[in-house]
Amino acid sequence: MRDENTVGPGQDIVSALRYEAMRVQDLDEVLAIEQASFSTPWSRAAYHRELITNGYATYLIGRLDGHVITYGGMWVILDEAHVTNIAVDPGFRARGAGRRTMAALEERAAQLGASRMTLEVRVSNLAARRLYEALGYHGTGVRRNYYSDTHEDAMVMWKDLGPPPSGGGPTGGRPNGGRP
Ligand SMILES: CC(C)(COP(=O)(O)OP(=O)(O)OC[C@H]1O[C@@H](n2cnc3c(N)ncnc32)[C@H](O)[C@@H]1OP(=O)(O)O)[C@@H](O)C(=O)NCCC(=O)NCCS
Repeated sequence: MRDENTVGPGQDIVSALRYEAMRVQDLDEVLAIEQASFSTPWSRAAYHRELITNGYATYLIGRLDGHVITYGGMWVILDEAHVTNIAVDPGFRARGAGRRTMAALEERAAQLGASRMTLEVRVSNLAARRLYEALGYHGTGVRRNYYSDTHEDAMVMWKDLGPPPSGGGPTGGRPNGGRP
């Protein structure tokens, strides 16, 4: 993680964020945020698989002054995008980066032909639930004992993105569940 003091606490970070596709060489920075953000962080090997062998996966990083401070990922399957992960460096939370990262995923999903987004979120993760609700996601059900580490329930949420843009294309396949 980077030193938050290089960007002042009141400074607008959203307009300075630059998004690009996550690459293997970004994983040191991504894993530092991952380990600070989740009780059961994904491993380097798990990310490596997603980036290299999962043709349905799209992962984005958001850089501030060249450093990764947020990332998110999804599987785009035909007209559905399934969010697998999103996190913001703890030193940069509550400043709009999470909202911006979700918007970046939605923009990319629409480009890839998705017309709706879905995700699962731990029932106890109120910050994430509020983020998704603020962005127009609606809870459609609960998956009992979804998380193997705590056996916590997951809320399933969906958002319509509207019709896919012409030129967007399906990527095929089927997800088997993600992180949020
Ligand atoms: C969830 C997470 C990505 C939010 O990122 P963030 O940059 O702090 O969020 P933002 O500043 O963009 O906030 C957007 C909205 O989310 C909600 N929100 C974010 N943090 C919140 C908190 N601590 N409490 C309540 N609501 C919160 C608010 O509705 C907020 O809108 P507002 O600022 O207009 O009130 C971040 O807290 C995080 O990385 N958490 C750990 C990883 C995680 O749980 N990921 C989600 C499951 S995979």
